[in-house]
Amino acid sequence: MARSRRATPRRYLMCPPAHFDVTYSINPWMDPTKPVDVPLAMAQWEQLREVYRSLGHTVEELEPLPGLPDMVFTANGATVADGRVFGARFAHPQREPEAEAHLEWFAEHGFAHLHVPVHINEGEGDFAVTASCLLAGRGFRTNPLSHGEAQEFLGRPVIGLELADPRFYHLDLALVVLDDDEDEIAYYPPAFSPGSREVLRRLFPDALVATEEDATSFGLNAVSDGLHVVLPQAAGGLYGPLRERGFEPVGVDVSELHRGGGSVKCCSLELRS
Ligand code: ARG
Repeated sequence: MARSRRATPRRYLMCPPAHFDVTYSINPWMDPTKPVDVPLAMAQWEQLREVYRSLGHTVEELEPLPGLPDMVFTANGATVADGRVFGARFAHPQREPEAEAHLEWFAEHGFAHLHVPVHINEGEGDFAVTASCLLAGRGFRTNPLSHGEAQEFLGRPVIGLELADPRFYHLDLALVVLDDDEDEIAYYPPAFSPGSREVLRRLFPDALVATEEDATSFGLNAVSDGLHVVLPQAAGGLYGPLRERGFEPVGVDVSELHRGGGSVKCCSLELRS
C-alpha cells in the first residue's frame, strides 16, 4: 500500500526567461543553430510558476539580465540550506556573471549568511539537500574541492558522487530528492560511475530507479514538496512509480527550455529557511 505523504510549503527563486536563448553550447542538449521561441518559453515558465503558486508555494523572482541567456536556470546560482547561502561559481565564462546577480539578490533579501565560493560549483545543479546530508555531483562542472567547502559552510556531511554521462552533466538531471524528511530519492544509475552507483545503492536501497527514457525526458529534473512532484510532462514513465509510492505527479510542459539543457528543477532554486 502506498504510504501517506504530506506537502510542506516551499519558497522558490525563479527568473523569467526574457533573455533566454541558445547562443553557445556547453552541454549536449544545446544546439545554437536552432532558433528559440522566447514567447513560448515565457508562457511555459509562467505556467510552471502558476503550478507552484497553486500548490501553495511562494515564488520569488530574480531580474533577468540581457546577455545571460541561461539565467532562467536559477538552480545553478546557489545552494541554500538553513537560511545559509552557499554561492555558485560557474565553470563556463558565459555564465560567470550570474553568480554575482544571485549573491546580490540574497544580500538584498535579508540572507545574512552568504558564502562567496573559492572553488567552482554550480549550486543546486550539483548539490542536493536531503535530511541527513548533501549529495554532491562532480565530473563535469562542480570541482570536487567545493564539496569540502560546502560541507564546512553548510555543516552537512557531503557525499560526493561522480557523474559519468555527459547528457547528465549536473546531478539534478540524474537524481531527485523526493522526500527530504525521509531521505527518499529517485535516480538513474548509469549516469554515475560504478563506485558512485554502489554508494547510492547502499545509502538508498529503496530508491526509485529511473529508466533511460525517464532520464532523457528530463524526468529526474523534478521538484518535490513531499507530496507533489512537479516534473516535465513528457516524463510519463515516472507517473506510475511515483503514484505507487504515494506521490502526486504534476506534469508541466517546459519543452522550450529543454533546448538549453534544463527543465523544471533547473528553473527553481529552493530557498530553505
Ligand atoms: N544551459 C545551462 C548550462 O549548461 C543549463 C543549466 C541547467 N541547469 C541545471 N540545474 N541542470 O549550464
